[in-house]
Amino acid sequence: MPRLLLILMGVVNSFCFFTEVGNNNHLQYSLARSDYPWYGIDYTGKQATGRFTNGRTIGDIISEKLGSSSPPPYLSLLQNDDAILNGVNYASGGAGILNDTGLYFIQRLTFDDQINYFKKTKEIIRAKKGEEAANKLCNEAMYFIGIGSNDYVNNYLQPFLPAGQQYTHDEFVELLTTTLEQQLLRLYQLGARKVLYHGLGPLGCIPSQRVKSQTGQCLKRVNEWVMEFNSQVQYLINSLNRRLPNAQMIFADTYPAVLDLINNPSTYGFKISNTSCCNVDTSIGGLCLPNSRLCNERKDYVFWDAFHPSDAANEVLAEKLLSSLASASAPTPALAPKPH
Ligand SMILES: *[C@@H]1O[C@H](CO)[C@@H](O)[C@H](O)[C@H]1NC(C)=O
Ligand SMILES: *[C@@H]1O[C@H](CO)[C@@H](O)[C@H](O)[C@H]1NC(C)=O
Repeated sequence: MPRLLLILMGVVNSFCFFTEVGNNNHLQYSLARSDYPWYGIDYTGKQATGRFTNGRTIGDIISEKLGSSSPPPYLSLLQNDDAILNGVNYASGGAGILNDTGLYFIQRLTFDDQINYFKKTKEIIRAKKGEEAANKLCNEAMYFIGIGSNDYVNNYLQPFLPAGQQYTHDEFVELLTTTLEQQLLRLYQLGARKVLYHGLGPLGCIPSQRVKSQTGQCLKRVNEWVMEFNSQVQYLINSLNRRLPNAQMIFADTYPAVLDLINNPSTYGFKISNTSCCNVDTSIGGLCLPNSRLCNERKDYVFWDAFHPSDAANEVLAEKLLSSLASASAPTPALAPKPH
């Protein structure tokens, strides 16, 4: 059986792939870090690895379910490491489609940076295996991409950054999707064919947004923006599939399923979805700090900190993502080999 090569790109933020597994630990000045307790308290060896959750990320769980090991962070690999042949994770906490996103974390790998690193990876594979094998490997790999949450949470929705004042939401979505189009085209030129783009979840319902409402409700306007983004990206991906020979890009819209998890936590075995297990201070960012207090039963909570789902929720989310992948993989026009 051919080995499944997973290439994971994106960010860390809520409901988004492919979640960071430690790239930022290697960025000396990055403030978007989670390499300290309580992060990782439910991970193998109770280790804080740079995953922004108490246990496994959605990426870890998907890899497990696909029978593959979770790809290591790109920045942890040595030059020339053969491990790159088994998949790489480029995701970086705080990163976005736009360069400005997460600027105040000082260091993170923007989506452009991640694509540049993928290009370098391909050059290394070429040096190891030759041009033809490198092209084949890159064409056959699965690319999981989840990016965009931070362009809201750590950009557009931040009152102290200019984007929110500078652009109407329509203009902002236009900027995001035209930028993303160039990025996906570049990935395609580098050989990516089987791309799964994980759409955004209801960001208006994450604890860091709820606290902005007097009554702890989801922010309706934020959710509407996210849905608009999702529909524009879906449109973009459909158009790329039509324009690019052999492109097999999938947009996985898990928004409704994630909203269902938040609105009906008990259906999925959870008790609380309107606040996080780790009692975070949203005035200083909403990450779980070593002096934060934890809940008693971590499995009861959908959210771990003010932005990120818990290990238990990630399990449910990974399941939902895989089922959307399975239904999208049924022979549909978007996936059928295209004559050209
Ligand atoms: C980010 O900055 C780099 C370097 O200035 C530039 O080449 C690139 O086009 C920018 N990307 C985006 C998405 O604005
Ligand atoms: C969460 O919901 C519960 C029950 O509906 C409510 O008592 C509690 O105040 C809410 N918590 C927050 C932080 O909104």
